[in-house]
Amino acid sequence: MPNATATATAPVPGVPPATAGACAAFTLRTLSPALGAEVVGLDLSRPLEPATVAELRAAWLQHLVLRFRGQALTDPQLLAVSRHLGELDPPGPNPYGAPFNPAHPEINVISNLREGDRPLGNLGDGEAVWHQDMTYIDHPPMASMLYAIEVPPSGGDTYWANLHLALESMPAGLRRRIEGRSAVHDSTYNSAGIMRRGMKDVTDPREAPGARHPLIVVHPDTGRETLLLGRRRNGYILGLSLAESEALLDELWAHACQPQFAFRQEWKVGDVILWDNRSTLHRRDSFDAASRRRMHRTQIKGAALRPAA
Ligand code: SIN
Repeated sequence: MPNATATATAPVPGVPPATAGACAAFTLRTLSPALGAEVVGLDLSRPLEPATVAELRAAWLQHLVLRFRGQALTDPQLLAVSRHLGELDPPGPNPYGAPFNPAHPEINVISNLREGDRPLGNLGDGEAVWHQDMTYIDHPPMASMLYAIEVPPSGGDTYWANLHLALESMPAGLRRRIEGRSAVHDSTYNSAGIMRRGMKDVTDPREAPGARHPLIVVHPDTGRETLLLGRRRNGYILGLSLAESEALLDELWAHACQPQFAFRQEWKVGDVILWDNRSTLHRRDSFDAASRRRMHRTQIKGAALRPAA
């Protein structure tokens, strides 16, 4: 069993430790032994000082997931706070061909709500399987931010898993089998299993469209090694037979998705979660189709992910 506490919260080389000390505009409260911290005392609707942004950034790189409770944000305020981390990355092509938030197309709407036949958001009410966002492009987003506007009375919890920790605690034999290898990150389906617009069904993962990335990469901001998995469906490890690739991917995913690497978020209205997309996986529980769930989401552009030496 890995020592999750020691590994997950250790300061990151090259990044000022996220102490949220005496002069900080906020304090931090650990959310789980594996990852995640709550930022207490910060109103994201107000302009942030550069020093506060720097401290938030350090906290985000150290804890990988930051939660802010009790927020009340307009769309422009959500965009403004997201832009503190970098340039926004527009949502990937949604299955219905038009932005869910036409006034602010950089914002994706994650919702089960419908107007007649027309979905008002993505991902419906079913499970969204473990994934990293948009790793099917060459430069996947570095961060995503999700703001809860309406939440169901039960269900719809979201989980994040720490991929640094999964890599660090990986059996040596398993690690040796993936070192130097890259995988295909299929762009055909979203995490709810819905085919993206303009895509064709994939019958052989070796032919799946999407970026190729090393399985072990160097985190561009911290230099720390991390596992990069994307999503399981139609994954393929280059250079292996399909059967070998399937068996190895099953082993990797079973290792990475263990509960000791994860944090569970039970949503309240006004929660904002900011996560590091390079070093975490996330998934969502299904919920009652008759209840309402609505979230607004932004993403921040990322850099190329280079292989670990
Ligand atoms: C997502 O995968 O980005 C959405 C997660 C959620 O609906 O909680």
